[in-house]
Amino acid sequence: MNTLEALQQYTRVVADTGQVDEIRQLHPEEATTNPSLLLKVFQSDSGRQLLDKVYEALKAKNNASPSVSAIAQMGLVWVATEILLCITGRVSIEVEARLSFDTQAMIQAAKRLVQSCKDLGIDTRRILIKIASTWEGIQAARELERLGIACNATLIFHEQQALACAQAGVTLISPFVGRIYDWYVARGLWKEGEVDPGVQSVQRIFTLLKSQGYKTEIMGASFRNIDEILALVGCDRLTIAPKFLKQLAESTEPAECQLKAPALAKEKLPPVTEAGFRWALNQDPMATEKLSDGIRLFAQDSVKLAQLIQAYLDQK
Ligand code: G3P
Repeated sequence: MNTLEALQQYTRVVADTGQVDEIRQLHPEEATTNPSLLLKVFQSDSGRQLLDKVYEALKAKNNASPSVSAIAQMGLVWVATEILLCITGRVSIEVEARLSFDTQAMIQAAKRLVQSCKDLGIDTRRILIKIASTWEGIQAARELERLGIACNATLIFHEQQALACAQAGVTLISPFVGRIYDWYVARGLWKEGEVDPGVQSVQRIFTLLKSQGYKTEIMGASFRNIDEILALVGCDRLTIAPKFLKQLAESTEPAECQLKAPALAKEKLPPVTEAGFRWALNQDPMATEKLSDGIRLFAQDSVKLAQLIQAYLDQK
């Protein structure tokens, strides 16, 4: 048994990529995308053909040249459709990061994504709408879940984000590992041999949510090395980049369950309030900076994608 198979005894493995050819090779059950991964899809060799298909489909539907934003949205849904043909489970697609502080705008954007999926004949139970875990994002996810739209609350760097999501009934959360590690390493606050702070963050979130009995699934994301992945075996899900999935499949190192659900706490924690949420994040420079930085980076990549689409339209 290789390490990937050993790991899969305890944890559902998800491929963190938008590249359909990688998904075809790796045979994951599920996949996650984000604006940066999507930009890579459109920058790749097959990106131009994909743009042609999306452009022609939209032009035929509306009998007019489509806008940049229409192509971007349909492009995202098109990639999701192609991924779904290669997996049996769900794919996560992300709401525009620039909306991360506007609850109503995120709800509307998510509804538009879901409608586009329906228009392409996608079973929307196989879609998770990814939303940044700002206070506003979590409120949007609460409403979307109430409407039956399952969400993946992403960019989680702090337990209060995880707890607020669980209390809001969010289907799945994505606590990031590698970006926490990056923050500590960049400041010389982590040394070789010390416990990885990103791993510790997911361990704390796992213990907190399981001890409170929440159904919200926990999916560790953003890895920098195999050790981080192996330290989180037992997490509900781990979304892993293709290069690490290949490394795990080529290794025979044993993978043992590292995360076990604790006993249920005797008392439920009180609801996270907006003030409490903002204060907790404010007190944690890493979480504050990484959430902000994550939104900024995803937004930048969405702008780059829009520029790429504009350049494509200019050539038409
Ligand atoms: O799923 C989240 C993941 O794509 C982020 O990974 O490597 O950009 O921190 P990374």
